[in-house]
Amino acid sequence: MKNKERIIDTDDVVGEKFKVGRKIGKGAFCEVYAGVNLQSGEEVAIKLEPVTTEHPQLYHESEIYKRLQGGVGIPSLKWFGVERGHNIMVIDLLGPNLQEILDRCGGKFSLKTVLMLADQLIEAVECMHDKGVVHRDIKPENLLMGVGSNVCQVYLTDFGLANVVLDPETDEHIEYREGVSFVGTHRYASLWTHCGVEQGRRNDMESLAYVLVCFLKGSLPWQGLSAGSNEEEINGDVMRKKYAIKPEELCESCPPEFAVWITSCQRTHFEDMPYYTSIKARCYVFDYEYDWADSPKDDIKLGTSAEKPGIILATQDIHDTVEVFSRTKISDDVPSSKDVQSDPENPWQIAGRRQRRKRHLSSNRGHRVAKFGKLKNHNFV
Ligand SMILES: Nc1ncnc2c1ncn2[C@@H]1O[C@H](COP(=O)(O)OP(=O)(O)OP(=O)(O)O)[C@@H](O)[C@H]1O
Ligand SMILES: [Mg+2]
Repeated sequence: MKNKERIIDTDDVVGEKFKVGRKIGKGAFCEVYAGVNLQSGEEVAIKLEPVTTEHPQLYHESEIYKRLQGGVGIPSLKWFGVERGHNIMVIDLLGPNLQEILDRCGGKFSLKTVLMLADQLIEAVECMHDKGVVHRDIKPENLLMGVGSNVCQVYLTDFGLANVVLDPETDEHIEYREGVSFVGTHRYASLWTHCGVEQGRRNDMESLAYVLVCFLKGSLPWQGLSAGSNEEEINGDVMRKKYAIKPEELCESCPPEFAVWITSCQRTHFEDMPYYTSIKARCYVFDYEYDWADSPKDDIKLGTSAEKPGIILATQDIHDTVEVFSRTKISDDVPSSKDVQSDPENPWQIAGRRQRRKRHLSSNRGHRVAKFGKLKNHNFV
């Protein structure tokens, strides 16, 4: 018979008002359920972790969420508590993760989809870093699409391994350390992380680049490579392969900005801000028509009241100056803003931090257009 004190099950109520529904996800440490706020009718996600777990993370994760509230691409935290032998965190209900969607799309995304995701994810990561937090486990399973009116927005989730690197009072950065145990996921980890160096903001951005390159290419060269039986062997195998492949080779079939991005992250100093330059294509309209737009909703669990916000962003006018805005300390062979010229033949452009800053003002897509004054509207469809 079910022990009510220790088990949380469908139809139970936690936090006095959140009714537990069906199970929607499972990670290494937690289980995630859909749920509903009985007072407001709002749908939520309920993440559960047994208090007996060896390495509890959920309280830490809820504290990180508190710090990040209001940030771009961050789900809102509704409640955290301990009940019936479980740590429980209630956050916004989101849609499928990008790994699930990728699998359903045949293992690759089109360039246009990758660029639309990249633009949002770079902004979200930069915003998280501005609040002093590094994620340390950026991977497709932790990047979730929204539901309802946010169905086209991508969110950062799973802050169980996140760390605060900037002192909220003084903005002082944590100290550089070596010999640190591996934290994260080997496939997407930065080179410095493999080497046992404490993670900072640069490492998240390198991981994000690997995620996006993987979306474009369908795999990464070090995938499935290691036959190692322990963490040290696997780490060593993946690190050697990653080190041996130059970013230009890795990103051979990708737009050149990806190799610049990875190189820059690897050369950024530990405490410095990495390369937050957004990448957009001139030839695509930023219309949130992702590769999975035509999939039946049930097929990829896009939520019940899905509605598209319509055509939102235009690409920048072809005559606008290509801009690289990076405060990264990068070496000579990485282009600075002066080195990169506007090239009408090149379908690529790099839009800078200042421009994206304007869009921090509101997560409402309608507002975003209004604030995006620099864009011309001739590319709106
Ligand atoms: N708010 C949410 N809305 C909908 N689904 C979610 C939500 N949060 C998590 N999920 C689903 O549950 C899965 C596991 O969640 P999460 O990554 O937070 O757990 P974890 O145990 O910390 O995972 P990991 O194994 O990555 O450490 C996610 O990949 C996602 O598919
Ligand atoms: Mg996860």
